[in-house]
Amino acid sequence: MTPDHASELTARVCALAPVVPVLVIDDAAHAASLAQALVAGGLPALEVTLRTPAALEAIREMAKVPGGVVGAGTLLTEKDVEAAKEAGATFGVSPGATRRLMDACEANDLPLLPGAATPSEAMALLERGYTVQKFFPAEANGGVPTLKAWGAPIPQVQFCPTGGVSLSNALTYLALSNVICVGGSWVAPAAMVRAGDWAGISKLAAEAAALPR
Ligand code: 3PG
Repeated sequence: MTPDHASELTARVCALAPVVPVLVIDDAAHAASLAQALVAGGLPALEVTLRTPAALEAIREMAKVPGGVVGAGTLLTEKDVEAAKEAGATFGVSPGATRRLMDACEANDLPLLPGAATPSEAMALLERGYTVQKFFPAEANGGVPTLKAWGAPIPQVQFCPTGGVSLSNALTYLALSNVICVGGSWVAPAAMVRAGDWAGISKLAAEAAALPR
């Protein structure tokens, strides 16, 4: 898959809702209920981070949930890409981007949302054909003013800011012309997942899904 095509597909995923939940799943037994709760609340695109032993099994379970579009986050290596694809992930997200990681995503037909933290990184990704990128870590890198400033010289790139984004600041990111959606973990707090508070998570998802952009 070419980077251009990958970006077309990640743009479609990002356009599904204003927020992509970033999920750290400790127990795959929670995965299906969590995905159902988020989808019911209006957030169909889900990023499951490959940071826990349960992550791949969680992707497998979530991929069966009607209406869900499940991706794998925290992709660092070729092995991660292959495992994510095999588990049923339909897109991938990385905190950054290396040549080997991009090669692996392109070879495995896994649309990648690659991460950038500086204009040079965004430009290098654009040069390769990635027009949709993750701005990470968003708040620690200067947040809204930084991303707004990138928009003037690099208007061709649409960003999904992630890292420190929450209901309280998501609106200001979504108002930027170069933001396609935001990513965040606030819609699935670990304590609510552990407690099985699916109604509460659906409510958080609905609040996030109602954010204007
Ligand atoms: C992450 O990599 O954990 C994401 O950027 C989520 O960040 P958040 O927990 O600040 O939303």
